[in-house]
Amino acid sequence: MSISIGPDRYVLFGHPVGHSWSPFIHGLFARQFDHLVDYKLQDVEPENFRFTVINFFVEGGSGANVTLPHKPAAAEIVNDLSARAERARAVNTLIRRSATELYGENTDGIGLVMDLVRNLGVTVAGARLLILGAGGAVRGVLAPLLEQEPREIRIANRTPERAIGLRDEFSDLGEMSASSFDAVDDKPWDIVVNATAASLAGEVPALPPRAVSSDTVCYDMAYGRGDTAFMRWAQERGALRAYKGWGMLVEQAAESYLLWHGVRPATRPVIDALERL
Ligand code: ATR
Repeated sequence: MSISIGPDRYVLFGHPVGHSWSPFIHGLFARQFDHLVDYKLQDVEPENFRFTVINFFVEGGSGANVTLPHKPAAAEIVNDLSARAERARAVNTLIRRSATELYGENTDGIGLVMDLVRNLGVTVAGARLLILGAGGAVRGVLAPLLEQEPREIRIANRTPERAIGLRDEFSDLGEMSASSFDAVDDKPWDIVVNATAASLAGEVPALPPRAVSSDTVCYDMAYGRGDTAFMRWAQERGALRAYKGWGMLVEQAAESYLLWHGVRPATRPVIDALERL
């Protein structure tokens, strides 16, 4: 029999990873339950990812999160994965079933839906939804968004072929259309979700002028201090509301916490703490 002394160990694997808020978020979650949790960041090069993860769990690690660029690789190394993670071909949460058996889940999409629907009161069901981007971030959220049964989904991307590829790959889950940004219908959308990396460069996708109106809710998956470029752009166009992705970040973390600890932390105080930064 082995007796483990000290806190349960969790890690976020990424490259780079130093900017992450996950230790802060998981620290606040653990305090809600008086859990003793050690959540650390680990920067790992892609070529060392598999070895590092296996080593972490063999040495008694309890669970891990995975961020860019390792999410697809994580889906390859697990023994089993959820239907959602399989569909996303990306894993952001590793659950230890035994020292040698790992289960993979992707909580990004449910995190976005929880934030939109539960925290922000946005009705996705029946809405016309425009998604900007066609990379891994979009792949991770499409299935949970489709489950909400929006009236229409358009995936628009700088490289339209990638948007078309995603549309075709998820076509069995629901109907979607795909195009470049400038081919997006020039009429107001109910919800516009920005999942491009453009914000990071302070850029905004070049959408037709009337795509955003005073009835449009804009959501940027990017987050950080102050308004993002996409939020400012949305506000300048008179959008009803403009949000950044703190809530999605905290909700996906809460889903990971639930999978690891069997309890779901309260997210509102943690989102508030991040928004006060
Ligand atoms: P992620 O996992 O974050 O989605 P990714 O797979 O590299 O990362 O995808 C990045 C997304 O941001 C893509 O949709 C990319 O468009 P392309 O497919 O045309 O490359 C988009 N993107 C990145 N920089 C952009 C910019 N300056 N303007 C518009 N879209 C941009």
